[in-house]
Amino acid sequence: MTLSVAIICGGRSSEHEISCTSAGGVLGAIDRSKYDPVMIGITKSGKWTLLAEGFDFVIRDGVLPVVPEDGEPISITPAGFFLQGKPLNIDIAFPILHGPYGEDGTIQGLLEIADIPFVGSGVLASAVAMDKSFAKSIFSASGIPVAEGIVIRKSEWARNKSALTADIATLGYPVFVKPVRGGSSRGTTKVASSHELDDAIAEAHKFDPKALVENAVIGREIECAVLEIDSAPQASVVGQIEIDSHFEFYDFEAKYLHGATSITLPAPISTKLAEEIQKKAIAAFISLGCSGLARVDFFLTPNDEVIINELNTMPGFTATSAYPKMWSASGVTYQEVISHLLAGALLRNNGALGN
Ligand SMILES: Nc1ncnc2c1ncn2[C@@H]1O[C@H](COP(=O)(O)OP(=O)(O)O)[C@@H](O)[C@H]1O
Ligand SMILES: [Mg+2]
Repeated sequence: MTLSVAIICGGRSSEHEISCTSAGGVLGAIDRSKYDPVMIGITKSGKWTLLAEGFDFVIRDGVLPVVPEDGEPISITPAGFFLQGKPLNIDIAFPILHGPYGEDGTIQGLLEIADIPFVGSGVLASAVAMDKSFAKSIFSASGIPVAEGIVIRKSEWARNKSALTADIATLGYPVFVKPVRGGSSRGTTKVASSHELDDAIAEAHKFDPKALVENAVIGREIECAVLEIDSAPQASVVGQIEIDSHFEFYDFEAKYLHGATSITLPAPISTKLAEEIQKKAIAAFISLGCSGLARVDFFLTPNDEVIINELNTMPGFTATSAYPKMWSASGVTYQEVISHLLAGALLRNNGALGN
């Protein structure tokens, strides 16, 4: 007997299209002998629809996949998923959504209320990981070094600019200014002096009323993929992000402009350092109470200090995204990763009384 899996993609966030390509990857690789996929697309305006057979999940001639607004409507209620009033009888949900309304605990709460097991972190871990200011305090309290940072709320900035500018100066320039609950480097600016601060904070506040100003860490960007296998979080081979020298940091263009970045696997670092990063990745996963999967991103300084940057509870998930690539380099195929995640969902460790 196969289990019915609702693969949910699209959504209201700026990462709608990336989510669709990830869902297409999962659809192509999911083990059909065990799972029967049902594709659900959330439109940019937030409507839930059944994706028509033949929906094109890939980027073709530069055209990105977008969930059409006029699809057959699906409803989700405390009694589960319905299509034209008939229950869809979903056994497991796989929300492949990034950013607000997807990766931040909101959809996880909805699924929990509907009593549907789902892949990935639960409400608390999803919400905390999405908010870089809360995640930072937890990492730090768990002994995982973080970059020093100050939260600047929009209302306080308007009232108290000079005192806050003095606080920021104590971090030492350059600083990074970013939205607390951002993604894809949107709204992130490197700031060399206090003169540039106002514009950078205004830019971050376009995405989030909370901006985070951090001391700029000098170092390489290193990533590690964590996957729960039989309830135990395991760390993948560690990867190093290579950014074309034309870019000052890992910004939106560098991330998505074709060929501007790649990942070196394994990262060209000592075994000792790689093991330290793997240990810290698992510690970070446990500290936030994550489930299923997470991509944990670090800086590695020239003095071999390992500093956590952020933890993503639903990283990019196409077959060629960093997360599956790190597992593939560790001997776990894309299909196996998906099967581990679906098996893990049924254990419900991400539920109200889970992790
Ligand atoms: N404190 C920092 N020091 C150095 N680089 C930073 C810092 N914060 C952000 N960056 C750069 O900006 C990129 C995006 O920031 P990040 O916090 O990862 O946000 P996002 O969630 O948008 O990926 C990072 O990959 C890195 O290149
Ligand atoms: Mg990042």
